Amino acid sequence: MSLATLEQSILAEIDAATDETALEAVRVAALGKKGTVSERMKALGGMSPDERREAGAALNLLKDRVTEAITARKTRLQDIALDARLAAEKIDVTLPARPQTSGTVHPVSQVWEEVVQIFGDLGFAVAEGPHIEDDFHNFDALNIPPEHPARQEHDTFFFHEKPDGSRMLLRTHTSPVQIRTMLASKPPIRIIAPGRTFRCDSDMTHTPMFNQVEGLVIDETTTLANLKWILAEFCKAFFEVDDVKMRFRASHFPFTEPSMEVDIQYSREGGQLKIGTGDKWLEILGSGMVHPNVIRAGGMDPERVQGWAFGVGLDRIAMLKYGIPDLRAFFEADLRWLRHYGFKALQVPTLAGGLSQ
Ligand code: PHE
Repeated sequence: MSLATLEQSILAEIDAATDETALEAVRVAALGKKGTVSERMKALGGMSPDERREAGAALNLLKDRVTEAITARKTRLQDIALDARLAAEKIDVTLPARPQTSGTVHPVSQVWEEVVQIFGDLGFAVAEGPHIEDDFHNFDALNIPPEHPARQEHDTFFFHEKPDGSRMLLRTHTSPVQIRTMLASKPPIRIIAPGRTFRCDSDMTHTPMFNQVEGLVIDETTTLANLKWILAEFCKAFFEVDDVKMRFRASHFPFTEPSMEVDIQYSREGGQLKIGTGDKWLEILGSGMVHPNVIRAGGMDPERVQGWAFGVGLDRIAMLKYGIPDLRAFFEADLRWLRHYGFKALQVPTLAGGLSQ
C-alpha cells in the first residue's frame, strides 16, 4: 500500500470515529507500538541511507498530520458531547413560574408579613417572647397586681401549680414582650412584637388563641404625638388608602397612663367594608404612654426615659382588610376557606410592590 493510500485510510477512520473510545482505537492502530505507521518506521532500518532519509522524512510528515487530525477530531468530539449535554440540561430561566396547584399562605401569615414590612420601614425591629409566661411578665411587671380586676378580665389559661405555689400561664397579650425587651436592652427602644396570645373565650369575634402585635417605643423625649403619627402612617399603609379618619378615645389600661383606644372610620357599601371614610367607627387597638411603674419594672428610670405602647389585634385587622366575616374560620384549617382567602406563596408583601398587589 502506498504511503498516500495509508494516510487516506487512516484519516478516513479518524473522521469516522464517533466517540473518544473509537478515536483512541484508531490512534493505537496507526501510531501504537504495532500500528501501521510504526511498522513502516521499523522498516526504515533495512533501507539504504538515501532511501531512509527520503522515506523517513515522508513518514514523519505523515505521522504529524495523523496526530494533528486526531487532536482536531478529539476537540470536535468533545464539543459535540458538550453541546449535547447543554441541550439536554437546558433550563429556560425566563419562563414564568408554574402556577400553583395547591397550598396558599394563610391570611394571618400574610398580614403578619405586611405589618412587619410597614414597621420595618418605619425603623422598628421585631421582638419575641415565649407563649408560656409567668405572672411577673404577664401581670405584675405590667402594673397588674394580684388582686387587680384586670386579671379576671383576661380569662387566663393557667398551668398546674408548682410546689412553690406559682403557676405558669399562656400569655394573655403580647405586652409581656415589653418587659422582656426593656430588661434585655437599653433605650432608645423601637420594637414591634407580633405573636400568639391566649384567652379562654370563644364566639364569632373571639377564639381561645389569637394574634396581637405589640408596639413599644422608649426614649428620652417620645410623646403621644409621635404615637398618633406612627399609628396614622401604619393605618394608611396597611389599609392601602391615602387617608384614614381616626378617633383617639380616652380609655384605661393598667400599664399605660394616659391610655387611649383607637377607632378608624369605615363604611359598608353593598356588603363591602370600606376603610378610611364613612360614618361608622371601629375599634382596632389599645395604646398609651407607658406607665412609670412598668418602666421601673423594665429596669429603667421613669425620670429619665418615657415612651408609648400599643397593642393591635392582628386577626382583627386581617378580617377588616380582607373582608373575612368570622374569626373562628381562621383556625379551622378548612382547605376550601384557605383556597378562597389564602395568598399565593410567591406574593410576598412589600411596600414598594403594594402590600397586597
Ligand atoms: N395589652 C392590651 C390588650 O391586650 C393592649 C395594649 C397594649 C394596650 C399596649 C395598651 C398598650 O388588651
